[in-house]
Amino acid sequence: MDCSHIQFCAGQSQVDFGQLQYLFAKAAFWARERNIEDLKMAIANSNPVVTVWDGDRLIGFARANSDGVYRAAIWDVVIDPDYQGVGLGRKLVQTVLSHPLVSKVERVYLTTTHQRSFYERIGFQRNETTTMVLCNSPSTGNLARRIQEQLTVTIDS
Ligand SMILES: CC(C)(COP(=O)(O)OP(=O)(O)OC[C@H]1O[C@@H](n2cnc3c(N)ncnc32)[C@H](O)[C@@H]1OP(=O)(O)O)[C@@H](O)C(=O)NCCC(=O)NCCS
Repeated sequence: MDCSHIQFCAGQSQVDFGQLQYLFAKAAFWARERNIEDLKMAIANSNPVVTVWDGDRLIGFARANSDGVYRAAIWDVVIDPDYQGVGLGRKLVQTVLSHPLVSKVERVYLTTTHQRSFYERIGFQRNETTTMVLCNSPSTGNLARRIQEQLTVTIDS
């Protein structure tokens, strides 16, 4: 496949939310149920956000959060199945890693269920021992909400 015309764009304003929802439903098993209102919130609070385009068709997406110095985390990496296997996923992750907000941080984290080998080829190492997660959902009794109810904290908005 000739991919010379494929465009990689960095910027929250580039996102087409209808197409992103469709791409997730098609190829991102963890994000199939996401609604547009929540996607807008997630993307407004992410930087960098990278989209991949074949003309006006959204064919790839990734986003990250970073403090610019110490830690960054990459989320929601996806390439449309019609375009997988030709190097676009690698270029997508490398575009996130080369962004000024990510390129200088000490450690870049991500979680993956099935794609460890893909990330190893880019330079990531397996990290079995350090990662923990708090699942904030009704099925876990909404632990974070219960913690919040016990605290009196002023949060800047
Ligand atoms: C994972 C994903 C982004 C990879 O994108 P892609 O465009 O197919 O990957 P690339 O063509 O850039 O592959 C880069 C390299 O990784 C290898 N690779 C890709 N997927 C792989 C996999 N599942 N297992 C092992 N190696 C893989 C390729 O063979 C290639 O190897 P090379 O170094 O010999 O050239 C894509 O398969 C995808 O969107 N999957 C569904 C969503 C998903 O699981 N995202 C990851 C969430 S953590």
